[in-house]
Amino acid sequence: MAATHAVRGIGHSVERKEDARFIRGRGRYFDDITLPGMLHMEILRSPYAHARLVSIDTSAAEALPGVVAVVTGELMAQHNLAWMPTLSGDTQAVLVTDKVRYQGQEVACVVAESAYVAKDALELIEVEYEPLDAVTSPQQSSSEDAPLIRDEKEGQTSNHVYHWEAGDKDATDAAFAEADHVVTLDTFYPRSHPSPLECCGCIADVDPATGKATIHLTSQAPHVHRTLFAIVAGLPEQQIRIISPDLGGGFGNKVPIYPGYVVATAASLLIGRPVKWVEDRTGNLISTGFARDYHMRGELAVKDGKMTGLRASLLSDQGAFYADAQPTKFRAGLFHIVTGSYDIPAAHVVADGWYTNKAPGGVAYRCSFRVTEASYLIERLVDNAAHELGVDATRFRLDNFIQPEQFPYHSATGFVYDSGNYPEAMRIALEKLGYDDLRREQEEARKDGRLLGIGIASFTEVVGAGHGKDYDIAGLRMFDSAELRVHPTGKAILKLGVKSQGQGHETTFAQIIAQELGIPAEDIEVQEGDTDNTPYGLGTYASRSTPVAGAAAAMIARRLRDKAKEIAAHLLEASADDIEFEAGNFFVKGSPEPSKSIQDVAFAAYTNLPDGLEAGLEGVTYYDPPNMTFPFGTYAVVVEIDRGTGQWRPVKVVAVDDCGVRINPMIVAGQIMGGLTEGYATAAMQQIAFDEDGNCIGSNFTDYLIPTAWETPEFDLGELTTPSPHHPLGAKGVGESATVGSPAAYVNAVIDALWHAGVKNIDMPLTPDKVWEAMNAAGMPE
Ligand code: CDP
Repeated sequence: MAATHAVRGIGHSVERKEDARFIRGRGRYFDDITLPGMLHMEILRSPYAHARLVSIDTSAAEALPGVVAVVTGELMAQHNLAWMPTLSGDTQAVLVTDKVRYQGQEVACVVAESAYVAKDALELIEVEYEPLDAVTSPQQSSSEDAPLIRDEKEGQTSNHVYHWEAGDKDATDAAFAEADHVVTLDTFYPRSHPSPLECCGCIADVDPATGKATIHLTSQAPHVHRTLFAIVAGLPEQQIRIISPDLGGGFGNKVPIYPGYVVATAASLLIGRPVKWVEDRTGNLISTGFARDYHMRGELAVKDGKMTGLRASLLSDQGAFYADAQPTKFRAGLFHIVTGSYDIPAAHVVADGWYTNKAPGGVAYRCSFRVTEASYLIERLVDNAAHELGVDATRFRLDNFIQPEQFPYHSATGFVYDSGNYPEAMRIALEKLGYDDLRREQEEARKDGRLLGIGIASFTEVVGAGHGKDYDIAGLRMFDSAELRVHPTGKAILKLGVKSQGQGHETTFAQIIAQELGIPAEDIEVQEGDTDNTPYGLGTYASRSTPVAGAAAAMIARRLRDKAKEIAAHLLEASADDIEFEAGNFFVKGSPEPSKSIQDVAFAAYTNLPDGLEAGLEGVTYYDPPNMTFPFGTYAVVVEIDRGTGQWRPVKVVAVDDCGVRINPMIVAGQIMGGLTEGYATAAMQQIAFDEDGNCIGSNFTDYLIPTAWETPEFDLGELTTPSPHHPLGAKGVGESATVGSPAAYVNAVIDALWHAGVKNIDMPLTPDKVWEAMNAAGMPE
């Protein structure tokens, strides 16, 4: 059933509805909200990474005119709120009571009549610390004499957080025993940060008369947050309303619950006035949900040119609290997607997490739970293997891809890939790139002393959690929901449990309903983010909105269409079994005239119903997907390196993506370009590093670099469409594809330019000084 162009259904590059307000400065972001009588909260953060709290004197701060309250850990402890649970079942300090465990940790809060007074008062709080040795790496954390970071945890005698394995060790060992070549790569995926344009914030407004808590929150998952607030604060869930307004990006940063949210809510409850906390940039970069920080060893067994076994061993730097946002079954997230696009019969993953004196996080920064790290490891390893074997990296991939006829494909680590066509993605990318010519150009350039490199990454990712049986957040099964109300005049409201942070949901979800019901997309309003006003859902992260909520939207529209058929049959004086539907019109099979439009039928749903049929055209559904979706693609990057400085720049970037059926091709292209930019930033310039005392280097945008239009390369996009067989629309997620897939392509390109000189690896970020050093260490002539 094709939707007509007029209703702007699936496949149309409809301009983003929400942009009409965003580009005019009329978005309603968190900081635009002001409530009558509102107080402001600021947070005092620890200057030390590891220090015992000896004393804290708040008297001078309390005496400052305009200060309403100073909140300490001791005060929070009196209300049983000094600690809170994390999304991975650990505990995290809300405000410090015993010792600080990372630089920037929340020590105390000031609530005042203005944010300026609150900030001034912070300087009047006197805190005495007893500094302790800081632990700044998992290697250090695992040594016998390392200080115990979580000494408050009963039974915790080391800094070890978890041990986790996936795959088949014996089968993998056997593959390695029989291999004719083993390639090994040790690499580090640095700590990075989602860095949304808008930081986090919360306005808690607890009505002293009714006890109802209305919480305006920068939240990617408002329903989950409401439930967790109810559990943490002991408030009745029906008395909590979370409203997540327009968000200036999220990228995973707005999934966890942060101490500022908890203290602001407790303060509003105790004071009886709304309390607003807005995080500043440094607070955001040093204390909220970081990503990655993975030390990885990959080993690939090869026999007769075929990949036969894969081992991955991982050391994860968890920071002071284990707070990864991921399904509880998987301690290292979905890292076991590490076999990627290749038909590798045996694989084994071993992961260990360690506490360090750094901020907690492990958020799925534009990546479904450690998929980015896995994709990086396999794509770097495969490229190095090709170099070591002396075969072309594209040939090696083509010889080892899972073939189209092998889907559904059971991976060695337990995933069932839904669909794919990896050779075709590669073919399109190489054609766009002019690959053979480029290889010749590379050889010629080398003769002239110019360094050109070509890097490939053929990633497969796993997105769209659940199914609920295997995937959860804090125990809540990962389904999603859609409620559709078609009004008498044929206009509709679609309410969703997910929450856009800029991905264009108001446009794309309206297109899904337009496709299914024939109502023009502009007549459909999409509402998200208000827990009192939308059905329960798990929220938006891990590219799950389209795979899960998109499916829910299609399913509820189809259910209403079935009811509409019964009404149309009544209007057309026919049997419902004889009614057909096409592009918004109902008619009797074989005779398109007379017909009734969806608008006629909607009106009749409230005015002229057959006997025995309930009035209205509304419904809600909860969709638990049967499987994840597995988007994929081939990215190809050409770089040129300046021999004198180590400076490198991408001269060509080709990205071929397959995310199944595209709801809105323009929005998909935007998502991919954003991800390619973020991937470039990770590969070229970003790292949140720490000195040996645990001081965070990278707490502002002069140290932690965000690429501007000036540095960002141009992207040449290609596409193919292999529908997901289990998604009602054939769609897969796409929001994270390029962030997942592209870093390896950039790095592979730089290594490809330098391999002949003996450079086999440079860890990200590939800053010019590191590239220059690697070239000199390899003895390359100037
Ligand atoms: O969960 P999140 O919205 O971040 O990710 P997504 O489901 O991959 O969707 C990102 C944006 O791309 C949304 O506006 C989607 O509806 C759109 N999209 C699309 O038009 N077609 C697809 N096959 C996948 C996503």
